[in-house]
Amino acid sequence: MSEVTTAADQSGDALENLLTESRQFAPSVEFAANAVIHGGEYAKANADRPAFWGEKSRELLTWSKPFTKTLDWSNPPFATWFEDGEINAAYNALDRHVEAGNGDRVAIYFEGEPGDTRTYTYAQLTEEVKKAANAFEALGLAKGDRVAVYLPMIPEAVITLLACARIGAIHSVVFGGFSADALRSRIDDAEAKLVITADGTFRRGKPSSLKPAVDEALSAPGHSVQHVVVVKRNGQDVNWAEGRDVWWDDTVGQASTEHTAVGHASEHPLFILYTSGTTGKPKGILHTTGGYLTQTAYTHRAVFDLHPETDVFWCTADVGWVTGHSYVTYAPLINGATQVMYEGTPDSPHQGRFWEIVEKYKVSILYTAPTAIRTFMKWGEDIPAKYDLSSIRLLGSVGEPINPEAWMWYRRVIGGDKAPIVDTWWQTETGAIMVAPLPGVTSTKPGSAQVPLPGIAVDVVDELGASVQHGHGGYLVIREPWPAMLRGIWGDNERYKDTYWSRFDGMYFAGDGAKWDEDGDVWLLGRVDDVMNVSGHRLSTTEIESALVSHPSVAEAAVVGAADETTGQAVVAFVILRGSAVEDADIVTTLRNHVGHEIGPIAKPKTILVVPELPKTRSGKIMRRLLKDVAEGRAVGDASTLADNTVMNQIAESLRK
Ligand code: PRX
Repeated sequence: MSEVTTAADQSGDALENLLTESRQFAPSVEFAANAVIHGGEYAKANADRPAFWGEKSRELLTWSKPFTKTLDWSNPPFATWFEDGEINAAYNALDRHVEAGNGDRVAIYFEGEPGDTRTYTYAQLTEEVKKAANAFEALGLAKGDRVAVYLPMIPEAVITLLACARIGAIHSVVFGGFSADALRSRIDDAEAKLVITADGTFRRGKPSSLKPAVDEALSAPGHSVQHVVVVKRNGQDVNWAEGRDVWWDDTVGQASTEHTAVGHASEHPLFILYTSGTTGKPKGILHTTGGYLTQTAYTHRAVFDLHPETDVFWCTADVGWVTGHSYVTYAPLINGATQVMYEGTPDSPHQGRFWEIVEKYKVSILYTAPTAIRTFMKWGEDIPAKYDLSSIRLLGSVGEPINPEAWMWYRRVIGGDKAPIVDTWWQTETGAIMVAPLPGVTSTKPGSAQVPLPGIAVDVVDELGASVQHGHGGYLVIREPWPAMLRGIWGDNERYKDTYWSRFDGMYFAGDGAKWDEDGDVWLLGRVDDVMNVSGHRLSTTEIESALVSHPSVAEAAVVGAADETTGQAVVAFVILRGSAVEDADIVTTLRNHVGHEIGPIAKPKTILVVPELPKTRSGKIMRRLLKDVAEGRAVGDASTLADNTVMNQIAESLRK
């Protein structure tokens, strides 16, 4: 990890303002009275964490073989939860609801980007998943095999994930915004046997394609993929590899609806999800079954106050990210909820699309990201005002810090000045929500994720790992293992230990700066490592730097995440061109496209600045902190450790030109 800045460094004056935040919103008497979870839960969990989680697991899940053990932490940092139990995730998400007489309840209201709709009841979704499980098995897929999933936000994504879980195959979803190269490296790392994709999807009223990226990814030999299953979504022409490619309709569509789900060991891997770290190579975060399902189901009930018989839940995250795994695919279905799934963007065909969907399906719980909320603020409150949002009774936020203004706007304009807001802090690695208010218990506070959930031991520590007092900042850590914690990095135990467990002895290091306020609420202050957060998407500075220097015109590159009003952070790149490369307007476009090709459109720098030098320490480390000052238009901070202290002047001079 290069140049770790402390949380205190990052915070500045803004933090003082945050910590004087005095607005608080107590739950209404009515909300508190009907809430699923009451305050006694904290004490109960504190008394015996593993026993608490064991109780929740038995309550919320159906185990095919009951467990007798809860946590085994005898070999840290490798935890096992409910180790001798057996469970099937798909049975828990589907069959058992049908068996309990709830087969006619709507599981998914799907709203396509062009306005087409599909509704799946629990009985119908169960059938579809059984068919997919049979079809995948017929293609040679067996328990433990890996499946790469490169799909848009369509019901087949959820069906695919649950079909994999049903047969014990391990899914690895690659977000559709990643390029062919990124897809290939993830396929190779996981040695995926099967790829599930679509011809394409729709973006802002136009067809966009996915299958060509799969073809490109698999064009070079030496991969592990035997078959590619293709969902027909937008009807575009696609190239076809005979013998390798099969249409979803010809396989899944023709398969039997009979399929018995057998239990898998609690620690059987459920999925791998790649996420950006501090080095160039994405990490395959590994999650297993029993503990993950327990915590996702519990947090979904507790944090969103879910009443499955009456609520309509809508999480706007794409299935390509962990939020789309935990709070679209797994938790809502495990809990028997009715949810909305939407394929498109908030602005197509008009800027009221989200609110139209809320009105149409009477969404009662909406879970989205601060970037979206800030965008809606920019578009103006007269847009949501045109729709009936009275069904909303709870609002959630995830992915990045939510600034108090956006929080207040969200509450007032979308939540009718009464819906509690739950700001939820968690990560791909944590698998489920870790810090959030309990809406019937906690008085909510704009901008703060507030309280570690019952059974979760979050703390803020200083450089040496000592807990800091209220009113002070430091690093967010987790002191005790939790059920949905990652079990490792796929194929790299050393990297797992090194990344998360070596910074502070015996504690999980999250990579985030945080502060306790005087009331004992947690404020998240952003990453303290080389990870950026752009629109709630995690991007690695080093990964984008590697992409830039792989272009023949670039000699050196440094990337920083600069504060951005809408997207939280924006990617700003500083590049030194090779002697032979000519600096012209085209080079910036060329380099942006090059990053798009190497990683994906989501990683394209917003700004690329061509500079003569980069600021480095005597040991050769790039001082990104100084570049961040430049990118954010601030006076450049302490540059005394630079090997050459004229560099910042040279950069300023070249940017003036
Ligand atoms: O920096 C934190 C930020 O997002 C990071 C995790 O990103 P990812 O693994 O992609 O998962 C995002 C969705 C769970 C964290 O290290 N983050 C996430 N939620 C919040 C947040 N920062 C502040 N407040 C949050 N509520």
